[in-house]
Amino acid sequence: MRFIGTAIADLEQGNVINGIYILRKKELKETSGKKLFADLFFIDQTGEINGKIWDMEEEFFQTLTLNQLYYINAKVDSWKDKLQLNINRMRLADPDDQKKIGRFVPSAPLQAQDMMDELYRYANRIQHTEIKKLVLTVLERKQEKLMYYPAARSLHHSIRSGLLYHLVRMLRTAEKLKDVYTDINTDLLYAGALLHDLAKIGELESDVLGFSEYSTEGQLLGHLLMGVKEIEIIGRELGISDEVILVLQHMIASHHYEPEYGSPKKPMFLEAELLHHIDMIDARVYDYENSLKNVEKGHFSEPVWSLDKRRLYKVNL
Ligand SMILES: [Fe+2]
Ligand SMILES: [Fe+2]
Repeated sequence: MRFIGTAIADLEQGNVINGIYILRKKELKETSGKKLFADLFFIDQTGEINGKIWDMEEEFFQTLTLNQLYYINAKVDSWKDKLQLNINRMRLADPDDQKKIGRFVPSAPLQAQDMMDELYRYANRIQHTEIKKLVLTVLERKQEKLMYYPAARSLHHSIRSGLLYHLVRMLRTAEKLKDVYTDINTDLLYAGALLHDLAKIGELESDVLGFSEYSTEGQLLGHLLMGVKEIEIIGRELGISDEVILVLQHMIASHHYEPEYGSPKKPMFLEAELLHHIDMIDARVYDYENSLKNVEKGHFSEPVWSLDKRRLYKVNL
């Protein structure tokens, strides 16, 4: 292997670096002096960074291809307290390196296959035969894509296998809740955790690297309505009883809680209520982990959009 580039997380202001990064966004802009420049956005496994090429030629700009690896030679500058690359040279990585692009994509910290096995272990612990049959059928149909799908499209959450990671951590939390609140119906809670976001496979269209865009149906309906629809279709096909279909549909429909976040109904039974909170816990934990991962102790993060633009503090202990 001959990756000798500096990882994004290790960049320091003032250095001239050689890096190998994935180009995720590009925009051709004009300076106030009417000169063209390229406004670029790169990622690797460790982070993300903005880059600029001044005095851009439009022809070269057109050749830049998104979601490909590039060799970058640049000076690391700082702009508004953020590091930024002032690019001297960049070119498409050679095909041999390009094949290894998977290693440069931010991914869930657990192995996809291990997470998938864990998901099935939870699904198999469901005792209610109809719920179990429905959950296992949906899982089997989504399994192939679930291996790599991200949990969201946003650049900051576009980690490969992110959806799987989200589901596993929710299931683990659900299991722990049962120790405290012993009357919870874990069949419902596990089924809800497993099913609630599975229609993101369809709401988003993702390539195997976890880079995704919203589908037309995703934009017009969203994963809550799509999920309700899927349970209806698969449930009828399997001859599942009305009550099981209905309560699982309610859990999916209410898991975002508020109408402005897409839920037509708020939760109306305990497991649906808890599902929403487990979902929120995992989303929040992810936001904190992700926003603080490259922040030094005793310092603040950038404002985090999903946490109403709060700047998060990395406790210095
Ligand atoms: Fe959701
Ligand atoms: Fe979720």
